[in-house]
Amino acid sequence: MAHNGTSYQDEYQRSIDDPEGFWLEAAQALDWVVAPQQAHSDVDAPLSRWFPDGEMNTSYNALDRHVAAGRGDQIALIHDSAMRETITRYTYNELLAAVASFAGVLRAQGVGKGDRVIIYLPMIPEAAIAMLAAARLGAIHSVVFGGFAASELAMRIKDAAPKVIITTSGGLEPNRKVEYLPTVREALEKAGVPALPVVIKHRDGFATQPADLGFNAVDWDTALAAAVPAAPVTLKSTDPLYVLYTSGTTGTPKGVVRDNGGHAVALLWTMANLYDIHAGDIWWTASDVGWVVGHSYIVYGPLLAGATTLMYEGKPVGTPDAGAFWRVIAEHGVKALFTAPTAIRAIRKMDPEAVLLKKYSLGTLQTLFTAGERLDSDTYHWASRVLEVPVVDHWWQTETGWGIVGNPRGLDPLPIKAGSPTLPMPGYQLEIVDGMGVPVGAGEEGNIVLRLPLPPGTLTTLWGDDQRFVDSYLSAFTGYYATGDSGYVDQDGYVFVMGRTDDVINVAGHRLSTGAIEQVVGKHPAVAECAVIGVADVLKGQKAVGYIVLKSGVSITQEQLQLELVALVRKEIGPVADFRKAIIVDALPKTRSGKILRKTMRQIADGNDYVVPSTIEDGSVIEALIPFLRG
Ligand code: COA
Ligand code: AMP
Repeated sequence: MAHNGTSYQDEYQRSIDDPEGFWLEAAQALDWVVAPQQAHSDVDAPLSRWFPDGEMNTSYNALDRHVAAGRGDQIALIHDSAMRETITRYTYNELLAAVASFAGVLRAQGVGKGDRVIIYLPMIPEAAIAMLAAARLGAIHSVVFGGFAASELAMRIKDAAPKVIITTSGGLEPNRKVEYLPTVREALEKAGVPALPVVIKHRDGFATQPADLGFNAVDWDTALAAAVPAAPVTLKSTDPLYVLYTSGTTGTPKGVVRDNGGHAVALLWTMANLYDIHAGDIWWTASDVGWVVGHSYIVYGPLLAGATTLMYEGKPVGTPDAGAFWRVIAEHGVKALFTAPTAIRAIRKMDPEAVLLKKYSLGTLQTLFTAGERLDSDTYHWASRVLEVPVVDHWWQTETGWGIVGNPRGLDPLPIKAGSPTLPMPGYQLEIVDGMGVPVGAGEEGNIVLRLPLPPGTLTTLWGDDQRFVDSYLSAFTGYYATGDSGYVDQDGYVFVMGRTDDVINVAGHRLSTGAIEQVVGKHPAVAECAVIGVADVLKGQKAVGYIVLKSGVSITQEQLQLELVALVRKEIGPVADFRKAIIVDALPKTRSGKILRKTMRQIADGNDYVVPSTIEDGSVIEALIPFLRG
């Protein structure tokens, strides 16, 4: 452990007592065109601005800076495809050349500072190259996860109004090939921009060719070969770097906006202090570039740190077996792995005694980090036992971009308590409050809120909608950001995160909105009304289950309805929703004002104690529903 002898308590306290000094010092780890003299500004309050007088470029800091420092021949990115059984390596020199050239391709398409670029790519190096190329020009990228269907892509195209879309022939799932081009075609039509330029990275083995669908197509390879490399554009620290859409409580996703300077400073701080990863170390985040974890810790964090980032195209199991993660760690000498608990549960289910682990030497591995969902005690103990390294949970959200609560392994390590992601990270002032905003005592569960301002790297607003940002996060508790999670703090200050207080669910580490699924289910002609809730699942953490009231006079079997609804959700939201269960019921429990009692339903389905509000319209409805919820 290469921690620097600094205690967590000292660092945390300094960040609270002297945030200006703390973050200006952290900012010195970057190269600035104009070094900031001020850390935080609330001139646009309630919106926060970090390093308002600083100027820099994130892509420069992730690539050129390391080449200039003599690390050009070091490996920057390893792409390990378990799907194709290939390994490709890029040095910092090579990655910089590819990014500069692709930035030239984008520039030739008229993309410049402030323009949006949608990236719809699977786990291939071109995803990172496209992101860094956009960042080089000061264009704002928005990556869309490959498991989303055309309607979801269309929604993001409409909201972001991009100049260009970047995609590929397809993605690879263990049981099928995912053709991307028909989805992009449909999304462009739905968004009303059929002639938008589409840059297409050709991949062998897919059926659809660009010409089949009449795209305004630019072939990635041809354009790259002819491109004039582009230099990094000097940006204000506060200029947006990306927009990442995430599920809220409604069907309309929220476009989380991230700035350049605050983001780079915060991520660089975390690489050294939270993850103990430094220049030259080999770091692997097994997630997807379409999620925030992929943005922060497959692409930006490790490259800002001058580390080697491993990008893995495959699954924890079935590609080819439950030893895949161990093979990758051993083959590439990975120092730390970051993944979601669901991936570890999937491995454990297939190989409970970790027999496959014995085939590999994992001597380089120092830490397993998990996030995305709660690390349950069973999984924590199992992983600790078989890997014999610290297993470190940390809690965060798309909105924050980095850990709110964690156990910083680059500082003097803190004791780990199973079930807790440990303590608040620098800059985060965390409190637990009741529904009225009144702080509760140690051990008492309540809403987890963060006192404003949030630290650098956290969202600056929602794309094109400052008011929705304020309404969604800043209005419930004056002076605080509402995380949407509930939890408690124990006597030692350790935070325990218990779950969401809204309609957001987490399926296999993927964040989804039950409201969005309800909207789709409600479109079926047989459905009068429905409630979709997240029910606890041993493998995936949660699963979406629909309870359906049929329109009167409709005759359809349970099996047929389920079949049709599953297909509908898959078509409208995507396979990632993993919606498989729809149950016909006579009625849904409601309050007298007509609000469906989803929370009570969830509590019953999970076998927990439940509270029936006194405002319930008809108590017998909930009684009648219990067997369906528990079944
Ligand atoms: N493109 C297209 N389809 C995708 C996809 C993608 N990028 N990712 C997932 N899907 C599909 C899957 O193929 C599956 O389709 P199917 O119904 O035809 O089988 C469906 O979406 C559900 O996928 P998932 O929930 O991921 O289940 P799975 O059984 O394929 O895999 C795990 C289960 C646990 C192995 C996998 O979810 C996993 O590795 N999770 C880690 C999640 C993660 O990294 N989260 C980020 C936060 S750290
Ligand atoms: P996402 O925006 O996809 O990262 O999802 C964020 C949500 O996932 C949080 O609000 C939590 O509900 C949940 N989550 C993420 N990490 C953890 C964790 N370590 N422990 C508990 N819940 C988590």
